Amino acid sequence: MSSMGVIGELCSANKKLHVRLLYCVMAAQFIYIAVDHFVYHNRIEDPLLGCACEYCPGPVAWATARARLETAIAESYAEERKPCKLREDYYDESEDEENEAGSGEQLVQVMKRKSTEQQDAWRQMKWVGQPAACPVRGKVIEKLDIQKNFRRGYALRFVDDVEDKTHLLPWLLGSQIDLNRRHRRVYIDLGANRFRTSVEWFLRMYPCDFTEVHAFEVNRRSWRPPRSAFDEVSNSMPGSNDSLLVRKKAGIAEWMLQRVHVYYKRASHMDDEAGGLVNITRFVKEELGLRREDAVVVKMDIEGNEWSLLKAWMEDPDMPLIVDELFVEVHYAHPSMRAFGWDEFSPITRQDARRLLGDLRWKGFYVHAWP
Ligand SMILES: *[C@@H]1O[C@H](CO)[C@@H](O)[C@H](O)[C@H]1NC(C)=O
Ligand SMILES: *[C@@H]1O[C@H](CO)[C@@H](O)[C@H](O)[C@H]1NC(C)=O
Repeated sequence: MSSMGVIGELCSANKKLHVRLLYCVMAAQFIYIAVDHFVYHNRIEDPLLGCACEYCPGPVAWATARARLETAIAESYAEERKPCKLREDYYDESEDEENEAGSGEQLVQVMKRKSTEQQDAWRQMKWVGQPAACPVRGKVIEKLDIQKNFRRGYALRFVDDVEDKTHLLPWLLGSQIDLNRRHRRVYIDLGANRFRTSVEWFLRMYPCDFTEVHAFEVNRRSWRPPRSAFDEVSNSMPGSNDSLLVRKKAGIAEWMLQRVHVYYKRASHMDDEAGGLVNITRFVKEELGLRREDAVVVKMDIEGNEWSLLKAWMEDPDMPLIVDELFVEVHYAHPSMRAFGWDEFSPITRQDARRLLGDLRWKGFYVHAWP
């Protein structure tokens, strides 16, 4: 039946009963809407909330709900952020991991069986790895992934670059606290190699505007700062007012390069002028005069010398307070790193490397394996 038909029916003189019925229904609907509006919807203060919820409580109820939510959040953080009681818990050793003693075919079989038995997103899919069981300085940090030589992206063949650092990005301390509020913000690169290897990465990617960069590189031929610096304002196409940042590849700004100090010396745990060694502990404390209220980020890639330097740092209670975040390439011997010439670090094992990083975390260093 068409709608015109219905109205026609209702409007015809001999169907008065139907017309009254229609008025009744319309009146009932109007009353229902009016009552509903006054009972439930007249206290809406936030138009967005008004759309999102069917029943909107009044301001007092909102304040109570908010206070409850805040308490719940505070409690959940308090629970999660307590440090672990045992040093061993910082090693991130779990029973399902590769047994260093196992090898060859037997090991492959065990790994195959485990991967089909347990479906675990962390094993194969997550580039970033999972969080460690123990927080460091009250903050979450990545699990020490020994099976991947601490290089998840490369080991999982997500990327061909053995220097890939993507897996570190979610765990940076600078993403969890605002280091830019500190007056002095210092990046120290020990074993800087070429400018592009790490200094450029930290200048571009680390969420802190460093006021000073100190780079140690013993090989003068490696370290070459970029010849032409980049200036955002002038980097526009002539003749077009809308084409900022298009003329050439983005580089490092001139004012940033001026913050970089280079030392053609070897970072060490002790001074030796003849051998070109610098005691980095002394350099940090005395030469730079760094203190706990400064923001200090250190990257260390010093070809095995990290073992003695970090041993000294673990015995020095000032160092975990001064150094906010530490990135270390720990060198060890393992068949999977043979292609990179790491056999020379024998008899240091991959387990030793994990324990070193775990010990540093236990001592309060917010430390990552680099890269
Ligand atoms: C660019 O801006 C200047 C000043 O506003 C104006 O005189 C000129 O016509 C603009 N050029 C173009 C290509 O739009
Ligand atoms: C390195 O410097 C620190 C701080 O000045 C000092 O305590 C330490 O003894 C030095 N190390 C060596 C091996 O001299």
